[in-house]
Amino acid sequence: MTETQTQPRPAAQLVDPAVLRVALLGCGTVGSQVARILLEDAGVLAARAGARLELAGIAVRDPDAQRDVELPRGLFSVDAEALVDSADLVVELMGGIEPARSLILRAVRKGASVVTGNKALLAQDGPALFEEADRNNAELSFEAAVAGAIPIIRPIRESLSGDRITRVLGIVNGTTNYILDQMDTTGAAFADALAEAQRLGYAEADPTADVEGHDAAAKAALLATLAFHTPVALEDVRCQGIAGVTAEDIAAAKDSGLVIKLLAIAELVETPDGVEGASVRVHPTLLPREHPLAAVRGAFNAVFVEAENAGELMFYGAGAGGRPTASAIMGDLVSTARRIVAGAPGRTDTATRKLPVLGIEAVTTSYSIGLEVADQLGVLSRVAAVFAEHGVSIEAMRQTLDGGEPGSGEGRAELRFVTHRASEKALAETVADIKNLDVVESVTSVLRVEGV
Ligand code: NDP
Ligand code: HSE
Repeated sequence: MTETQTQPRPAAQLVDPAVLRVALLGCGTVGSQVARILLEDAGVLAARAGARLELAGIAVRDPDAQRDVELPRGLFSVDAEALVDSADLVVELMGGIEPARSLILRAVRKGASVVTGNKALLAQDGPALFEEADRNNAELSFEAAVAGAIPIIRPIRESLSGDRITRVLGIVNGTTNYILDQMDTTGAAFADALAEAQRLGYAEADPTADVEGHDAAAKAALLATLAFHTPVALEDVRCQGIAGVTAEDIAAAKDSGLVIKLLAIAELVETPDGVEGASVRVHPTLLPREHPLAAVRGAFNAVFVEAENAGELMFYGAGAGGRPTASAIMGDLVSTARRIVAGAPGRTDTATRKLPVLGIEAVTTSYSIGLEVADQLGVLSRVAAVFAEHGVSIEAMRQTLDGGEPGSGEGRAELRFVTHRASEKALAETVADIKNLDVVESVTSVLRVEGV
């Protein structure tokens, strides 16, 4: 019998049903707070879980390193595999792909359930890990992997499991929300706002994964998989970061009553020939200032869900940080422990159908386009004619003059158009043709608009 043909087997037999041995893999920002809560709140956790959650040990690289929380030296080990082998429950907070992946597989193959916050690993290898967990009657929980402390995985997976989610819009990266918010409130340039985010400890020394949108894309893949019950991989997510957003874009948005946010967007879409699929993307997006997501300031996160029967729901809170993220880990740990005590570890059950994941060309949305043009007679009508040729309808236009006698041909003008909903293809063709007009100096920005 091959590995994929193995039959489900009962969950691991507990040595002592009144005690669940917890192996903690990693003791950094989040792991140290999980260890603290396990030790400080042992009594209440036991009452809620129905069994004592005993911290069996903590796997790290350097057992003698200084930690955020003072913990008994005897708990630390460099032998993560031995720790996993001795545990009933495993909390993976090492991050990265290996050895986290092998240790999770090792745990679930012996029937031990796992709680993780590792979005990078789940976005890359989630389906294989969930399948292996299901096959072995183990549970793999990951509330902390998307939007830190905010309960969003469980509401989508459980509370909304009887509804049909049609769209999820999320601010799921605190670093980029902080940067965009700084640019919006102080007029700072991108580089200065990023430096401030690094000084305050929001952004990593290497902020690439945040700024380029890769962290948000991993979370978008997880949200879409759960919301639409279909596998969505990281490479299915179209991703554009915020490095190209300028102070001028922010100021122009502000003038128009809009704000720029990095959104993770997952939606059910239908192609013109009637094929239903999922579209998943991350990009800077213009939102009306009255949209609920526009009010999400600083490093906070929020997820806006639209479901056929529930309507619009919004989940808001701290998307990162040791204590907030540890809260989500502990919620998963207690829930899993309860199910183990009841003798019924839940199935992960993430993907029950296989929708095509459609490319960005299947999407229709509104756009804001910024142009620098010569301030000459007839320029506006030539630009407007290109929109019309491609069937892209203009909703609004603003012009800012920059030098020269108005209309003399000596000065320049900045034009900002907002379109009605148009297809990505029509918009791309429009922008390409506008760039070729001799009166157009440059296309300064193309941003998608939601919520209008
Ligand atoms: P840290 O980098 O602060 O901590 C990682 C820990 O894992 C350290 O204790 C480190 O040991 C240990 N570790 C790493 N590699 C190994 C290895 N090969 N063998 C043994 N131990 C190892 O990470 P965070 O706590 O910030 O993040 C943990 C996870 O939680 C990540 O997946 C992250 O994406 C996720 N997450 C984090 C959030 C946050 O706000 N920080 C928010 C949401 C999710 P040592 O200390 O000895 O080096
Ligand atoms: N780097 C992430 C953020 C941490 O800025 O939101 C939480 O996943």
